[in-house]
Amino acid sequence: MGARGLFISFEGIDGSGKSTQARLLAEHLAAAGRDVVATREPGGAPGAEAIRRLLVEGDPARWSAETEILLFNAARRDHLERTIQPALDRGAVVVSDRFADSTRVYQGVARASLRPLVDRLHDLVIGVEPDLTFVIDMDARAALERGLARRSGEDRFEELGLGFQEALRAGFLALAREYPTRVQIIDGARAPEVIAQDVAARVKAHLP
Ligand code: TMP
Repeated sequence: MGARGLFISFEGIDGSGKSTQARLLAEHLAAAGRDVVATREPGGAPGAEAIRRLLVEGDPARWSAETEILLFNAARRDHLERTIQPALDRGAVVVSDRFADSTRVYQGVARASLRPLVDRLHDLVIGVEPDLTFVIDMDARAALERGLARRSGEDRFEELGLGFQEALRAGFLALAREYPTRVQIIDGARAPEVIAQDVAARVKAHLP
């Protein structure tokens, strides 16, 4: 990637508050006069949003694990081509609610033996990592209750239950050990405004 802006992703289990934090950071940067693109995965471009509906709605057993990984990568490639890369090329700050770490953790937790497939596919068709990733860490039970209470109609993964959410939480914490310079763990058990200030302070040092 040549001259570029800053790519920030937010990760965490369903109901962790990461979407709120992604929005608050984007608002904070925009208020400071920055060119900001707030986006999300799966989705973030018209084609990728169409793929999102195939992924997050319906029967949890709708796709094989392999097909699901391909769909997430198809959506991500479209998102990267149409939204993320053009924004970075013009020097914008991109704030994405989820990116490739979600595939590493969600699809890797579902079947650990699939992690090599996830990694190889990522290298082949994506090949980009955020500059900075915030994992909003949260008790799995509290997060699950919050997520399901939303009744968004997008509960395909949340319906996999508490054990799955706990494994996901452990997966995100492990990711911070795997990528210590990029991935930062944020204590999500605080008031949203306090978390937002913590995040904004950490971002400040990385702004172009
Ligand atoms: P969201 O609730 O943050 O909008 O994400 C939608 C669901 O998709 C969520 O349960 C996590 C799941 N997901 C994956 O399993 N793999 C991925 O690569 C991404 C981006 C999301």
